[in-house]
Amino acid sequence: MPDKTDFNDRMLSLGLARVSEAAAHASATLIGRGDEKAADQAAVNAMREQLNKLDIKGVVVIGEGERDEAPMLFIGEEVGSGTGPEVDIALDPLEGTTLTAKDMPNALTVIAMAPRGTLLHAPDVYMDKLAIGPGYDKDVVSLDMTPTERVEALAKAQGVKPSDITVCILERPRHEDLIAEVRATGAAIRLITDGDVAGVMHCAEPELTGIDMYMGAGGAPEGVLAASALKCMGGQMWGRLLFRNDDERGRAKKAGITDFNRIYSRDDMVTADVIFSATGVTNGSIVRGVKREPKFLETETILMRSKTGSVRRMIYRNPIR
Ligand code: FBP
Repeated sequence: MPDKTDFNDRMLSLGLARVSEAAAHASATLIGRGDEKAADQAAVNAMREQLNKLDIKGVVVIGEGERDEAPMLFIGEEVGSGTGPEVDIALDPLEGTTLTAKDMPNALTVIAMAPRGTLLHAPDVYMDKLAIGPGYDKDVVSLDMTPTERVEALAKAQGVKPSDITVCILERPRHEDLIAEVRATGAAIRLITDGDVAGVMHCAEPELTGIDMYMGAGGAPEGVLAASALKCMGGQMWGRLLFRNDDERGRAKKAGITDFNRIYSRDDMVTADVIFSATGVTNGSIVRGVKREPKFLETETILMRSKTGSVRRMIYRNPIR
């Protein structure tokens, strides 16, 4: 008989889907309105309200920022009803605020939950990321390889030419050299303007998305969310924190990080079974965006559990009252 305080991920996962759905619904009227802040705030409010209905003793470990920067869903905030299992929560109420404001693809609302103490407390710094999908030998590519070596190793593992590989990279000036080097291998690049949680998730379903590998620096908190997703979907991922100044090193120290050069594997970032839910805000290759009709709103959610590897896609239609 499971104890009430067990991490009963099977039942909790359905509640988690409601949390990401609520955030997507709330941001629906702000898609394409050019107001990032309003869209984010609506998603934060809705996510918090729904999260507090779950019977958990939750602590936000990846959230909207440090306590003095974020009034809600800040790192360390206790969430849930206060009864039930002790869990870590990683969330991004709106992953892709600019994508939402501009109605560009792949904006998501994202949340992951795992037993207390099992999600990396990643500080708000950049992380160098590398991800591939399932079905490869362990460590077929690594962060220590050059971008060229990674493309060649992955092509060899697939039995194809480097020019048959597609790499997803965030379009940023800091990636100019990376992009040039990957292009020189002959590989194709899918440039994205934002949203690297979705970028990494794309690697897990290459037949659907056309992406074989994700590379480049993005937010470290988003790295933990992406690692949670890949742990459920299958696929390998690595991340190394990048520090630009002492303030950022201080943030890492505060989060309990001592080895600043460590390469974290997917399972170092998420050390136990995790549940993950993401709802589409704008249309994307993984889930559809919110559909607004005069009488209802419809969302698509991907809900996953690493324990079983189950992946559910759920359509939710809610009448507008
Ligand atoms: P927001 O939704 O918080 O704006 O984040 C979007 C995002 O593109 C993330 O997916 C990514 O990890 C990060 O921003 C990259 O940061 P930067 O824009 O500073 O390059």
